[in-house]
Amino acid sequence: MTVPAFRDPALTPEQRADDLLSRLTLEEKAGQITQYFYVIDPEAADEQARVVEDAIRTGRAGSVLFVRDASVANRLQRIAIEESRHGIPLLLGFDVIHGLRTIFPVPIALAATWSPEVIERAQSVAAREARAVGIHWTFAPMVDIARDPRWGRMVEGAGEDPVLGAAVAAAQVRGFQGDLSAEHVIAGPKHFAGYGAARGGRDYDDAEISDSELWNVYLPPFQAAVDAGAGNVMSAYMDLNGVPASGNNWLLTDVLRDHLGFDGFVVSDADAVRSLRTQHFARDLTDAGARALSAGLDMEMCMADPAFGHLPEAVAAGRVAEAAIDTAVRRVLIAKLRMGLFENPFTDEVASTSVVTAPEHKALARATAEQSLVLLKNDAQTLPLDAARLASVAVIGQLAASKRDTLGPWVFDHDTEEVVTILDGLRQRLGDSVAVEYAPGVGIPRRLVPSFFDNQDPSVEETADDHDDEAELRRAVGVAEASDVAVVVVGQRQNQAGEFASASTLDLPGRQVEQLERIVATGTPVVLVVMTGRPVDLRFAEKNVSAILQVWYPGTRGGEAVAATILGDVTPAGKLPFTWPRHVGHVPMIYSHNRTFKPADQGRRYWDEESTPLYVFGHGLSYARFEYSNLRLDAERIRVGQSTVVTVDVSNVSTRDADEVVQLYIHQRYGTSSRPLRQLVGFQRVTVEAGNMRTVRFPLGPDELSYWSAATRGRVQDATTVDIWVGGSSAADLGTVLEVTG
Ligand code: BGC
Repeated sequence: MTVPAFRDPALTPEQRADDLLSRLTLEEKAGQITQYFYVIDPEAADEQARVVEDAIRTGRAGSVLFVRDASVANRLQRIAIEESRHGIPLLLGFDVIHGLRTIFPVPIALAATWSPEVIERAQSVAAREARAVGIHWTFAPMVDIARDPRWGRMVEGAGEDPVLGAAVAAAQVRGFQGDLSAEHVIAGPKHFAGYGAARGGRDYDDAEISDSELWNVYLPPFQAAVDAGAGNVMSAYMDLNGVPASGNNWLLTDVLRDHLGFDGFVVSDADAVRSLRTQHFARDLTDAGARALSAGLDMEMCMADPAFGHLPEAVAAGRVAEAAIDTAVRRVLIAKLRMGLFENPFTDEVASTSVVTAPEHKALARATAEQSLVLLKNDAQTLPLDAARLASVAVIGQLAASKRDTLGPWVFDHDTEEVVTILDGLRQRLGDSVAVEYAPGVGIPRRLVPSFFDNQDPSVEETADDHDDEAELRRAVGVAEASDVAVVVVGQRQNQAGEFASASTLDLPGRQVEQLERIVATGTPVVLVVMTGRPVDLRFAEKNVSAILQVWYPGTRGGEAVAATILGDVTPAGKLPFTWPRHVGHVPMIYSHNRTFKPADQGRRYWDEESTPLYVFGHGLSYARFEYSNLRLDAERIRVGQSTVVTVDVSNVSTRDADEVVQLYIHQRYGTSSRPLRQLVGFQRVTVEAGNMRTVRFPLGPDELSYWSAATRGRVQDATTVDIWVGGSSAADLGTVLEVTG
């Protein structure tokens, strides 16, 4: 019996895909580009599993998502290979957002490291664990720019800035995909495009984005992910300028393929193709499938009754060309072939356990968390605390002891037992010589959400039904009063951030601020620890508390990282990846806005509140002290199209070795468009030893100096005068000037 050409590893993936394509019926082609959710509702588990397994057997499913167990992965793969007509292996996808079993800090925290190396390493561990259990593809990174913290998914991205966002996007793609060898997975940057601009921060709401914002702000992270080789892109749900992203031919074909140069396959967001009908764009499911596919969408992700199941009818009715279906199928088959799935479809079930429990993964999770913490305020060197001078420490707040909340949203396969909370971390670090007294204090109401988005662990500390807020508050204040220092942990529950978790306020939930006020009034020094995925209203704390540490949702070993930082074993160096507003009424607030007609009054534009942020973009303090000097340019005058180099000396004038994130900002004084007052164009996280100096260089040329202008409807670089600043935040004041001539 001759082996079919598509099984011949000596041929190229393209040749093999063409051969296989020629053997498929139209129904089988539609099946290859259909992706089903596996079991997501535990109560309907058997029925859901049966539907999906039947679809695999009959060639109606080419991919499945939400399989996270090696034995289930192998079982489904066996059905595809042994029971379906051509034995085509399945592509198994899942949301591996910040780790699988070992949970790393949430993505916004990864961005706060400002270290592409750290981020790449973290996501390569996530990929290794995912691949070990049979996952081939992650729906990550989320590279949506987020400028409205009411939007809960800010926690999944890299914040407000396109240049930081692009670097973080590329690092994650490199980490996940590597060389696509046996320890890596396909990366799927999402959600293409503009999802973060949801009106009012309301998840899934429509987005209206101008062309200049689209090209200058929202697309650069996708471009970077594509340039880094991302094999997949996920389309967004919402209407972009009135056309749903998942049925938008201009977006999915002209922009993504022709402009950004993407050559992988596009998957829809969950049920986004069927939703073309819900959103009153498509007439019916057949229309939805035909239009999504014709727009350039290659694979439908769905719960049930896929619109792509109607593609054969659409072909018969002349509503979609079979050639367009072939193109999509070919892309999906090539992805499977490139991964080597025809040769190695199964995963090693025994080995998978030791991979996901590897101690070095946990150690890396801790190191990553350490790099992500942002010291927002530290008056009078309150931090680090000196353990030798302490007899007692109060740890206050439910989040300090909540394993589940320490992990953040988008985790499914963690082991709660492995989680080190902030309370655990402090107890471990302080040992028996310091008395650590914990008081949960006021309740933080859990948000009641559909189970899919909740993913609570039943073993988790809840605010018990008989919780008496008043009594707990009094107890917490008493514990603080009786201690040398109070570490007060405030924030939001993990399910108050993430998908479908928009907030109309930035207030801390429950009575957390009131409790903080009463603790501050005791006179015990307070260290405030903030556990959130977005900025919250910290106006009281900024005025009345001397040290504030933003810890995000720091992951499996987060508590150790927080304790090590508070006690000074680690010097914090994270920086904010967004502007921190004072109040929800400030939203949206970004650092890279244009100059107004009244520049001098910029700080006084609201009569009822200052209109400066509470903390600027790029802000983050250190226990060390850095001085910037000797800012210079290789050439102070260049022509359009030419480049120069910006150089600065960064001295660590303290007695501690520490990292600093050196940031380069520009502003052009006149040109084809008005340009932002400040715009990040380069950054480097460097380690500078105590008493030492590092020289840091940044290229500055057409890539940094050009932009998309609505005046010419294209990219321009102006002959102009460019202000340049380098420093440790967007408020850097060491500056120089570059002349660019025509
Ligand atoms: C989210 C995606 C996610 C998908 C699969 C959707 O609701 O928007 O980001 O990848 O579900 O879990």
